[in-house]
Amino acid sequence: VEHLLGIKYLNKNDIDIIFQTADHFKEVINRPIKKVPSLRDITIANLFFENSTRTKLSFELAEKRLSADIINFSAGQSSVKKGETLIDTVNNILSMKVDIVVMRHPNVGAGVFLSQHVDAKIINAGDGTHEHPTQALLDSYSIREKLGSVKGKKVVIIGDILHSRVALSNIFALKLQGAVVKVCGPTTLIPKHIKSLGIDIETNLKKALEWCDVANVLRVQHERMDIKYFPSIREYTQLFGINKQILDSIGKKIVIMHPGPINRGVEITSDVADADQSIILNQVENGVAIRMAIIYLLAEQIKRN
Ligand code: CP
Repeated sequence: VEHLLGIKYLNKNDIDIIFQTADHFKEVINRPIKKVPSLRDITIANLFFENSTRTKLSFELAEKRLSADIINFSAGQSSVKKGETLIDTVNNILSMKVDIVVMRHPNVGAGVFLSQHVDAKIINAGDGTHEHPTQALLDSYSIREKLGSVKGKKVVIIGDILHSRVALSNIFALKLQGAVVKVCGPTTLIPKHIKSLGIDIETNLKKALEWCDVANVLRVQHERMDIKYFPSIREYTQLFGINKQILDSIGKKIVIMHPGPINRGVEITSDVADADQSIILNQVENGVAIRMAIIYLLAEQIKRN
């Protein structure tokens, strides 16, 4: 693939190559000297039109570990505020000889649009409610690390599926690798087409937890929520919040994941988020190796051409 625009453009072999490359970089970043000189000839622009902590810092660190030159752009402090368009913004940045663009944008399809109009490799760091491919890759990589493989594992994605780019990218990635996937949440927050993706819906949280090996708990997205979707956050927490009591009641120990940022006490309690069965911080750690792998593989294509 020429860009990383979404998991829907990848196949199983692509994911295997990304994971093998990430295995190598995970070993590298655990050495006393965490840097390799591989990308000294590559320049990368990180364009964030939407807020981010993990993705932004993780990409920046991955690029630095690979010795790339980087520039960072946040829309809030830029001439986007004066009305400059996306293509003008990016073409101005590219004229400074940039090879790869990492972009987070609130609009669905922003990465695909950019890839059709500018001459650079594009990595989608989240486009609206659509896809967040690097998150899904680091999530699957973390399941593989914890449980040995993704194939055959039962994964339930819990929460606001309707607005979640993490859910959609995870569904595509997990299915490609042979996991069995269910979603669990209020019916108002589950899109109607989900069954056409081969995904079962479970509206009873306890049954979903009893079934699964892994629960990926999504953030309640206050910024994309509307009162029409669910009566109240308190009701959401009562019916779909993950707490120690419900985990103790299922009679087995499942793996707990969350992409962050966490609303502690809303979709997950602190004692669960911080428990030893939680791999939330391992996900963040693995994000650097996964992003190094993706950038490295795209940069190799640039160097070959
Ligand atoms: N998981 C994730 O995308 O977090 P940020 O929004 O902080 O980047």
